[in-house]
Amino acid sequence: MHAASVGVNKLCFLLSLALCGLLLILIPALRGPRPRPLGDLPRPRPHAGPWGTGGGPVPVRGPGSAGRLQRGGVGTGERSSDGRVTASGDHEAWGRGDTHAHPGGEGVGLRGSRDPLDPKDLFIAVKTTKKYHRSRLELLLQTWVSQAKEQTFIFTDGEDKELRRRAGVHLVNTNCSAAHTRQALCCKMSVEYDKFIESQRKWFCHVDDDNYVVLPSLLRLLSSYHPSQDVYLGRPSLDHPIEAAERVKSDGSVSVKFWFATGGAGFCISRGLALKMSPWASLGNFISTAEKIRLPDDCTVGYIIEALLEVRLAHTFLFHSHLENLQKLPPDTVLDQVTLSYGGFENRRNVVSLRGSFSLAQDPSRFKTIHCLLYPDTDWCLTGNPGGTA
Ligand SMILES: *[C@@H]1O[C@H](CO)[C@@H](O)[C@H](O)[C@H]1NC(C)=O
Repeated sequence: MHAASVGVNKLCFLLSLALCGLLLILIPALRGPRPRPLGDLPRPRPHAGPWGTGGGPVPVRGPGSAGRLQRGGVGTGERSSDGRVTASGDHEAWGRGDTHAHPGGEGVGLRGSRDPLDPKDLFIAVKTTKKYHRSRLELLLQTWVSQAKEQTFIFTDGEDKELRRRAGVHLVNTNCSAAHTRQALCCKMSVEYDKFIESQRKWFCHVDDDNYVVLPSLLRLLSSYHPSQDVYLGRPSLDHPIEAAERVKSDGSVSVKFWFATGGAGFCISRGLALKMSPWASLGNFISTAEKIRLPDDCTVGYIIEALLEVRLAHTFLFHSHLENLQKLPPDTVLDQVTLSYGGFENRRNVVSLRGSFSLAQDPSRFKTIHCLLYPDTDWCLTGNPGGTA
């Protein structure tokens, strides 16, 4: 009996040792992607003043505030006098409680600073292709672009007299191929970059022609940062960094790991960071960089920023692409997001769930519904028909 109990004790001891060993191995694996060091993430500017700790003035949303960015026509150079936006409030509703939201543990733009962001400092590049001028771009022109005419530049691949008449210099024919190839997409990104640098503006944001940009949210987010900081903001497309052979700084025998913001959800880059990207991005260099690493346009942006410049992507989940399940967005947080999207023909129902005065048949993308909730005094929100009056 005595000998048996010693045997059992030994067994227990060995088992607990094994269990401990197993736990030691499992813990790092269970913790998922390794948190990145805090030091490198751009931090929102310190929020001096009384609005720093929540509460405070009503968050900017809807008409009469940041909503109206621009009432003048495209290319007229007019700017509204009430275009300024003050930042406050918590707009992280969707990211709240999501442990992956900010791997660095740092909130992205949680609170605004007291310095307002002047909308004229913003450069929004919309990437499209000629075959989507009517089916996709028209909807954007009727909705969010109508509130940001002075900020928005359309990058396409074919001349369009009607669009040129409406957009003037805000339509950029990239002369890139209309094919949906890596080369063609990188060609457009390269032109977007050059036009942004030329514009002297402080913030570059890239979106696709199936994105709705919630301008008050975008301004609020950007106003948390200073454009001279190194800021790269967007939604990571994977839950882990991508790995690629390093063929720019070395011969490809070593690999690098980096995060990138998915282009389909849109991303933003500060001028300070964009200028540092110049050796690999300006005047056609973007195309040769992408060719070297053989990755798509948005990956190449991440590669230049994270792998070459060693600046971290600030992960934000306020940007959305059609690849997500958009129905899962809580309806009461939709207007707080920065970008939204909708599923294509193969995925008609992948749209945000928002009720409004437009049925799913009248507004399959829900962009008109979103727009009328943000800007209820838009004339067609009452008549129900935007027509061609953008
Ligand atoms: C595209 O070609 C036209 C006509 O040659 C030219 O005027 C325009 O500047 C070109 N666009 C770009 C972005 O180079």
